Amino acid sequence: MSRFGFTLGAHTLGQLTALCHRLGISDARTACSMLGGILGPARDRVLSEPPAWPSDVSDDHTPVEFSVALDHDRPPSLRLLAETAAAEPSRLGNRLAALDLLDSWSARHRLRLGLFDRIRDVFLPDDTAGGRFAVWLSLVLRPTGPPAVKVYLDPTACGVGAAGELVAEGLRRLGLGGAWSTLRRHATRSGLFDAADWPIFFALDLHDDPDTTRVKVYVAHESATSADAARAAAGARIDSREVDAFCALAGEGTSLFDARPLISGYTFVPGNLDHPSGYSLYLPIRSYVDDDEQAWHRVQQITDRYGLDRAPIHDALDALTDRRLDAGVGLIAHVSLRLGDGEPGITIYLSSEAYAIASPRQHIATTTSRGSSTCR
Ligand code: TRP
Repeated sequence: MSRFGFTLGAHTLGQLTALCHRLGISDARTACSMLGGILGPARDRVLSEPPAWPSDVSDDHTPVEFSVALDHDRPPSLRLLAETAAAEPSRLGNRLAALDLLDSWSARHRLRLGLFDRIRDVFLPDDTAGGRFAVWLSLVLRPTGPPAVKVYLDPTACGVGAAGELVAEGLRRLGLGGAWSTLRRHATRSGLFDAADWPIFFALDLHDDPDTTRVKVYVAHESATSADAARAAAGARIDSREVDAFCALAGEGTSLFDARPLISGYTFVPGNLDHPSGYSLYLPIRSYVDDDEQAWHRVQQITDRYGLDRAPIHDALDALTDRRLDAGVGLIAHVSLRLGDGEPGITIYLSSEAYAIASPRQHIATTTSRGSSTCR
């Protein structure tokens, strides 16, 4: 089926509806209306036009990325990460559009914006148009119940050099000041945040229940080994063998992850003070495979190792695309391992590929635009 002439909304909302259906998410309508709200004016743009804003949510600038989280003790959840853009996109315009959207959601979807209000000016300073983005939003969809909303902020809003200070201030304002030295000590190789180990996201849950609100700090490790990641994980008292085993499976023979950074995610629960309650490792698998067939093969080895059912991932791939897995690379964008209390969980991040499908590496290392793609 040709998607030529389709709009961004038709493409991504169609994918979301199919994903909800396959993964047993009952309220697809609310999910679609929320994603429609995030897409805003970009929703009606046809895909033959270039993206309105070069969103960094995904490689082809589609402002949405999906993910499926697998756990032992509950059914898979569907997540999405998305960026809103103003009618005339700019960092400032997009920021205002995202803040308006959150305001309108706060009553309708019972969000608590109190903690967000405490920190927002740290990451959204008036006097800079720097950084990669203003606000990203994430929805977590479970089979029943309302979507949970998370907000992502950019620690590099005032430049990479200031990113550590922004995180320190954000944590302090949330009563987590003690977490800072744990982070700095474990998440960096030099003992300082720098160009090698830099904070990439600061995320906050916007639930109704302040007791379970989580704060997450993500640190990118450039040109890192699995031993570097294991050291970072030790900050959350994680056994290094867990991290090594995951890197060996997902990286298959990669010793230095220098094509795209490994990312550590530390979870803090306000009140639980200095120590992270959880650690996740994100591995950008798309940069370490030739095509998605190879990535899918590794995903299956990972789900097998952790005794998790791979069927929801297979179903999700099927819901997203009808292209052959070996016809492109990047549909499977990241894989992550979630560690902490209880058994490990796995999350697989899946691209929408609304604008482009990257060609497999052994063929031509370029990107085919949708208009000329023959993959579908
Ligand atoms: N596309 C960006 C990247 O790959 C940001 C991003 C989107 C990301 N989803 C992610 C980073 C999941 C880590 C994990 O870096």
